[in-house]
This record gives sequence, C-alpha cells and structure tokens, in this order.
Amino acid sequence: MPELGDRLYKEMNIQIQEEVYSAYLYYSMAGWFDANGFPGFGSWMRRQAMEELIHAQKFFTHINERRREVELLEIKKPDNKWGSPLEIFEAAFNHELHISGKIHDLMKVAREENDFAAEMGILQWFIDEQIEEEETANEVVTKLKMIGDDKHGLYQLDKELGARAFTIDPAFKW
Ligand SMILES: [Fe+2]
Ligand SMILES: [Fe+2]
Repeated sequence: MPELGDRLYKEMNIQIQEEVYSAYLYYSMAGWFDANGFPGFGSWMRRQAMEELIHAQKFFTHINERRREVELLEIKKPDNKWGSPLEIFEAAFNHELHISGKIHDLMKVAREENDFAAEMGILQWFIDEQIEEEETANEVVTKLKMIGDDKHGLYQLDKELGARAFTIDPAFKW
C-alpha cells in the first residue's frame, strides 16, 4: 500500500479525535442516565462509547499501516446538561449525522487523491457503518416519541436497551 498522503493523514487524525469525542459524549450521556434512574440506557450508551473507541482504532491502524505516525489531538469537554431521554437520543442521532458528514468528506478527499486503499480499505466500511449508526439512534428516538410520558413504557424500553449485546469482530485488528 502507498504511504498515506498528507491531506488524508491530517483528516484521519482529526477523525480519530471525532471518534474519541463521540465515545466521550456517549459516556457523558451514560452518566446522565445512571444519575437519573435509567441504568439500561446508561449501559447502552457505554457500549456505544466502546464502539466509538473501536472506530477510532480503525483509523489508528490504517494510519499506522500506511507508514505514518498517529498524532492525537485535544478532546473537548462534552455536553452534560439534558432534560430527558428523548433529548439525549435526539442529540445522539444528530451527532451521528455530523459524523456521517465527516466520513463523506473523507471519502471525497480519498477520491480526489486517488487513494483506493483508503477508499476501499476503510472508508467504504465507515459509510455502511454510519447508515447503521444513524438508524440505531433514530429507532430509539422513534420509540421514545411513541412512549411519550408513559412511565411503564420508559421502564420497559430502559430494560430492553440494557440487554443490548456487545461483541467485537474476531477479525478486528488490535
Ligand atoms: Fe463512530
Ligand atoms: Fe457512532
């Protein structure tokens, strides 16, 4: 594989920052859920945070494999003031839309640079992954809107999301 060019190198380091920030944001949301009586949503968010760290690592590995040294950037303090589970999941959905935009921007740069290794080796995977990420968050938003103020419904959904499975692909490169 060719050495990673300067433009994608810079943008992929920024994407590591974005993915780690996503984890940080979801940990912050988990903290609100834990403190406000929704342990299932909290646990779901912590698993989501782990997935984001795995996303960060995928870029980490790609930069490495393309013979460049990762440069870690600063992570800002995430929001922590929310009013309801619906508000949080809407914020999570909007955040995923933002991340999808970043991935699409990376793909544009890869194409401009004729970097097929980046395009096919990592970015195509992320484009598919973002479709799932958006869908997952949006599904919860839809359910929370249906539930509204029904305490029993909220309790049930908290339990359901708390049971989310978390597995790491055995082929994942540490
Ligand atoms: Fe991500
Ligand atoms: Fe995500």
